[in-house]
Amino acid sequence: MKSADIFDLSGRVALVTGASGGLGSRFAQVLAANGASVALVARRRDQLAALEARIRQAGGRAIAVAADVLDRDAMLRAFDGAEKAFGTVTILVNNAGVAHSDRVAEIGEAQWRRILSTNLDAVFFWAQEAARRMMAAGQAGAIVNIASVLGFGVSKGTAAYATAKAGVIQLTKAMALEFAFKDVRVNAIAPGWFVTDINRDYLTSEQGRALTREIPVGRFGAEGDLDGALLLLASNAGRYIAGATLVVDGGQMVALRG
Ligand SMILES: NC(=O)c1ccc[n+]([C@@H]2O[C@H](COP(=O)([O-])OP(=O)(O)OC[C@H]3O[C@@H](n4cnc5c(N)ncnc54)[C@H](OP(=O)(O)O)[C@@H]3O)[C@@H](O)[C@H]2O)c1
Repeated sequence: MKSADIFDLSGRVALVTGASGGLGSRFAQVLAANGASVALVARRRDQLAALEARIRQAGGRAIAVAADVLDRDAMLRAFDGAEKAFGTVTILVNNAGVAHSDRVAEIGEAQWRRILSTNLDAVFFWAQEAARRMMAAGQAGAIVNIASVLGFGVSKGTAAYATAKAGVIQLTKAMALEFAFKDVRVNAIAPGWFVTDINRDYLTSEQGRALTREIPVGRFGAEGDLDGALLLLASNAGRYIAGATLVVDGGQMVALRG
């Protein structure tokens, strides 16, 4: 089997949440470049429209569908819109996420719930809806949840985020167990540090830059460093992988401090 064939996504329909920037924008472009038609979901319409144009200019197929991942009606409209344009969604990348830096003693209820609902509840409901539709259509599919190395370890000021991401890793296993027999594979990627809007202020500070000393590869993640993991889990190349969380962190998690 040639690599180009097993990673090929021609005829597949993907939906990427949080496609308006950062990692999600790259995920959408990679899926489109490998043949998938892609529905681009997030709240910021202008960014989505610009990405849709960029993908089309590059010869790909994409539509922008503005939606808040916390809005269940908007979720249904997003799946309906993708289906109407391209057919049943058979690849979901559950990527939308928000971070915080509040310490446990200070975090308020509204903030706790916002982080948990965006990073965990929405992942559940979007994956549930995608799987239901794939199974109803009798189509095999792949769900890729974006977790984090903070789903395994913690650092100060990440309690809500790390709790949600640990939940995503468990949820990925639970969903894989229930959907695998229908050929709907559920897996996750746990990225290390990538400089995006979610963490730019911190990672570009002196304290943040010092973190690279804890990464064996010696740098933060760069654009393209998650392409291989995404394509593996989304495509036929990963057809026997279910319930896994692929850590892509330049070795950060296995390195001892000091
Ligand atoms: N960067 C890292 O180092 C890193 C490491 C590990 C895991 N991750 C995870 O990777 C994912 C992407 O993060 P990123 O680094 O690319 O951050 P980012 O640049 O801030 O992107 C976050 C995306 O999520 C979307 N989003 C947030 N809340 C939303 C909502 N309620 N409804 C719809 N979309 C929403 C944002 O779009 P709108 O504002 O337009 O809605 C944006 O497109 C997140 O799940 C994050 O936790 C990132």
